[in-house]
Amino acid sequence: MTASYDITHHTYDVVVVGAGGSGLRATLGMAEQGLKTACISKVFPTRSHTVAAQGGIAASLGNMGPDHWQWHMYDTVKGSDWLGDTDAMEYLAREAPKAVYELEHYGVPFSRTEEGKIYQRPFGGHTTEFGEGPPVQRTCAAADRTGHAILHTLYGQSLKHNAEFYIEYFATDLIMSEDGQCQGVVAWKLEDGTMHVFNAKTTVLATGGYGRAYFSATSAHTCTGDGGGMVARQGLPLQDMEFVQFHPTGIYGAGCLITEGARGEGGYLTNSEGERFMERYAPTYKDLASRDVVSRCMTMEIREGRGVGENKDHIHLHLNHLPPETLDLRLPGISESARIFAGVDLTKEPIPVLPTVHYNMGGIPTNYWGEVLNPTKKDPDAIVPGLMAVGEAGCASVHGANRLGSNSLIDLVVFGRAAAIKAGEVVDPDASNPALNQASLDKAIARFDDIRHADGGTPTAELRLEMQQAMQSDAAVFRTDKTLAEGVTKMEAIAAKIDDLHVTDRSLIWNSDLMETLELTNLMPNALATIVAAEARKESRGAHAHEDYPDRDDENWRKHSLAVVNGSKTTLDYRPVHLNPLLGHNEGGIDMKKIAPKARVY
Ligand code: FUM
Repeated sequence: MTASYDITHHTYDVVVVGAGGSGLRATLGMAEQGLKTACISKVFPTRSHTVAAQGGIAASLGNMGPDHWQWHMYDTVKGSDWLGDTDAMEYLAREAPKAVYELEHYGVPFSRTEEGKIYQRPFGGHTTEFGEGPPVQRTCAAADRTGHAILHTLYGQSLKHNAEFYIEYFATDLIMSEDGQCQGVVAWKLEDGTMHVFNAKTTVLATGGYGRAYFSATSAHTCTGDGGGMVARQGLPLQDMEFVQFHPTGIYGAGCLITEGARGEGGYLTNSEGERFMERYAPTYKDLASRDVVSRCMTMEIREGRGVGENKDHIHLHLNHLPPETLDLRLPGISESARIFAGVDLTKEPIPVLPTVHYNMGGIPTNYWGEVLNPTKKDPDAIVPGLMAVGEAGCASVHGANRLGSNSLIDLVVFGRAAAIKAGEVVDPDASNPALNQASLDKAIARFDDIRHADGGTPTAELRLEMQQAMQSDAAVFRTDKTLAEGVTKMEAIAAKIDDLHVTDRSLIWNSDLMETLELTNLMPNALATIVAAEARKESRGAHAHEDYPDRDDENWRKHSLAVVNGSKTTLDYRPVHLNPLLGHNEGGIDMKKIAPKARVY
């Protein structure tokens, strides 16, 4: 089988798949330590989806007023609706300031205060005094193009440290040894159609989320859950997939993001009666409540007939009361997006917005070093040797059931950096790479070849649309037993049609038909795991708002779901949430009483 493809072999200490914020931070950290590092990306690195991150990156620098890492940790625990792993959340909050100052020293052009410090703005769910004080300005920003600034800086730094980039290579499958160790990846070079094998002592999946499993998402069209797909095909589980975040302010119709930083700078939402309705639902933090809360409130307003527009099906976001200089200085990007995608001059009119799929809290289970887990009953923290996952592809689990805005960019750099620290400990640059498992490589090439020659009756675009529509209607902001059960039936039937796909173009060079089909085979297990895990979870927690079970049920459901997807069937299991902090209270750690579960109000 392998004889029919010309395969080029590469050998590295580390191969990173994906060149967004987490992939580049991991690549840079590996290369800085002298590890021979390759980074493979299906798009040019600075076009990765991190480039679209607008509002900023959370870290308790305290530049605009008092702040503390423990307040950040408390907000993250509460935001996660008590599903996040305590050790990972503590690691994130404690390491965040260090990670941001490193970015500054690498050259990220942050916006500045009058005294020249990094500018920080308020974001939803970020507070002071363990949720008892006013909102905090914790989100470090480069205007409203923070992801763009970080991505360009990390790419330049990675090149400076001699990381090697394989650009416009599409990673198709992992290569695993007989005893379950990851040995690298197979990739298809889009430009000339050649196949490549990357043999690595450690493989890092930094492939981003799977927002494109839905019909309307702020995610780029490249966000197709490629890492999750590769992991699922090895029989490994995906974790907490039922938790899908809807960002309150996607532009109505277009789906493009209008940053939460807009509300951080003083923007507010109104319904058809011109009412600032968030004051009713979240009297303390109002429009700056956590984003799952704001998205639900907007949906309720629309359902109750108070939506705006001809069809009363969206909400208004006002920025027209803010000084034009503030809009120019702090929000230039969204001023442009509002004009292009909504035809709105935001100095004069409100922007039409709607909750839009934005982020996947679930993903490939990892510990806080980024090592991929394959939990067993005996060892719920068992790792898969040689395999790591970081960023939105991974689930550390630091966001639990709901992520706070601006905790994504900090997750990317903190855990990309952590993966590099761990690789520095476990990868021996002087050791030779283990011999590749030929059977695993043959299987990967055979799958690629089968898809390339797929000759069924269903075009890829048709099946993708069916999947997106099913997910959009049945795994939505609000869910019921009925919609979820219908969704599972629909999605299992849709997933079964993967075997009936038809690829029209059989060529190997710039074949977008083949690429989109491979991407669909990755989206599908992610989508299936999402709806099946959602149907099984009989409670409401974070982004999983179940109308038949409106309350959180810690006794039965404070646990991570694990979904193993095999074709159109999904098997569920669970693993315990990590409840222990890294530092004891007498070592400077958080007082655990502060983060004990309670009702989540804003
Ligand atoms: O609203 C935003 O700028 C998005 C930030 C985030 O998802 O962290």
